[in-house]
Amino acid sequence: MPTFDLDHSLCWAHRGFSAKYPENTLAAFEAALEAGADGIELDVTLSRDGRLVVIHDETLDRTTDGTGPVSALDWDELGDLDAGRWFDEAFAGQRLPSLSEVLDVVGGKMLVNIEIKPEAACVSADVPVEQQVLDCVREHGLMDSVVVSSFDYSILLRLRGLDADLRLGTLFTGEEENIDFRALLQAIDAFSFHIRAAELIPEIVDLFHEDGIKVYCWTESYDDEALAMEQVLEMGVDGFFANNVEYFLAKRA
Ligand code: G3P
Ligand code: CA
Repeated sequence: MPTFDLDHSLCWAHRGFSAKYPENTLAAFEAALEAGADGIELDVTLSRDGRLVVIHDETLDRTTDGTGPVSALDWDELGDLDAGRWFDEAFAGQRLPSLSEVLDVVGGKMLVNIEIKPEAACVSADVPVEQQVLDCVREHGLMDSVVVSSFDYSILLRLRGLDADLRLGTLFTGEEENIDFRALLQAIDAFSFHIRAAELIPEIVDLFHEDGIKVYCWTESYDDEALAMEQVLEMGVDGFFANNVEYFLAKRA
């Protein structure tokens, strides 16, 4: 198992190489690896029968040929859906991967940021989502190359209760109110703080660096991504969730 250098501005392929491949599919993750990204970011939630499925939205409509909530279908039914054709006919036949399938393909070859979607905590499952994610990472022997993040801080607190060493990251959109992030990050012994690029100011980078916490950024808009990359690199961030992996690799060079 290689060791990963975390001390430079990491190129995290956001939902895989999502600028050119259908997000959160094996095609997008393999392309990110091929393009030279340091890691991938992916989104995970639970199927109706409590299995870990990799998809961003709460519903199937935007990125598959299915409709309705992801949590309304069992894993076998989700596996029948096409998750590539919406992006381009060339990707017809891509499926919604399980977390285990993604880790089988890229695990140990690059870093993986697993974002647990808040809605996963609302699905009634025999094994809670955070325990399943932890088990999956451990079974793949990837404790040293995974960061788990969430907008749901109670998921992160429960994960910290389950494992003292797993790297955890908190997500911040800028819309949260009355949260002392410094205290929260201490409570979960966070590895990283993930913030929307538009919310970042140099003082935030300095503050979290003082506490030894990495600062990673993302942007929702593909249009302003190149500018956002330049701005946050200037501020000294530790990594960027890039939709266009090639842009970021060129800019940080
Ligand atoms: O993890 C960073 C980013 O992916 C969070 O936002 O909506 O793209 O999952 P979203
Ligand atoms: Ca995400």
